[in-house]
Amino acid sequence: MIFSISNLRKKFTRRGVDFDAVLDADFFAWSGDFIVITGESGCGKSTLLSMLAGLARPSSGDVILDGEKFGDLSDEELSQIRNRRIGYVPQNALFFPQYTVLENVLFPKFLRDGKSVQQDVALKDLDSDLQTLLKDLGISDLLEEYPANLSGGELQKASIARALVNNPSILIADEPTSSLDEKNARLVLKLFSHLASTGTAIIMVTHDDMALKRADRSYIMQRGQLIPREVSDYGNL
Ligand SMILES: Nc1ncnc2c1ncn2[C@@H]1O[C@H](COP(=O)(O)OP(=O)(O)OP(=O)(O)O)[C@@H](O)[C@H]1O
Ligand SMILES: [Mg+2]
Repeated sequence: MIFSISNLRKKFTRRGVDFDAVLDADFFAWSGDFIVITGESGCGKSTLLSMLAGLARPSSGDVILDGEKFGDLSDEELSQIRNRRIGYVPQNALFFPQYTVLENVLFPKFLRDGKSVQQDVALKDLDSDLQTLLKDLGISDLLEEYPANLSGGELQKASIARALVNNPSILIADEPTSSLDEKNARLVLKLFSHLASTGTAIIMVTHDDMALKRADRSYIMQRGQLIPREVSDYGNL
């Protein structure tokens, strides 16, 4: 699997003035890469990730997954690729309030299989990898609850589980540990490292220095520009 972007740009207009939230970003990821992106608030990280995830269309440049250019795909084709190959943990995850946590986690699977949301699914009905994931994340006791009854950190872990439910080739995670205590943040990072070792590419935005230590490569965003970080910079953390 190879995932790349070239000269990616996203232009927004605010109070009649154009500005580039993302400017000429170049980047690639292979299977098994663990890539971390840091940068100040407002520098364009979430805008970049939403284009990588195929949710937002770039103003120019392209996102290419195994030779397939997102810009050449219809919205429907793109959403299929997103569903099957890309897991996305948004900065502010949304859940369907009328479905249980488990139904929410399984939603991308129902979508992939063309089924409507199946109720009364229990933990024991799930395949063993998914059971292990939910246990590792510490949310297997919360699956029957409704999202409104979970804490911010618990919802963040459910959002991670949902992003992984279709075994994506790429996991794109936007500050996935921002609501977690240190112990839970470490657990998530360990999970991401394990996934990378089994071939999933991880692209993670974070303010967490612990993540940088696990990364194969990292970038800093500065006013829309994505700048590779030298490995020697890690010593200054
Ligand atoms: N839809 C939009 N229209 C206009 N401006 C936008 C839009 N979305 C984001 N922006 C602006 O683009 C810039 C980049 O926003 P973005 O959300 O990518 O930042 P970020 O690096 O993820 O910040 P944070 O660390 O706070 O999450 C910000 O100045 C933001 O206000
Ligand atoms: Mg953001």
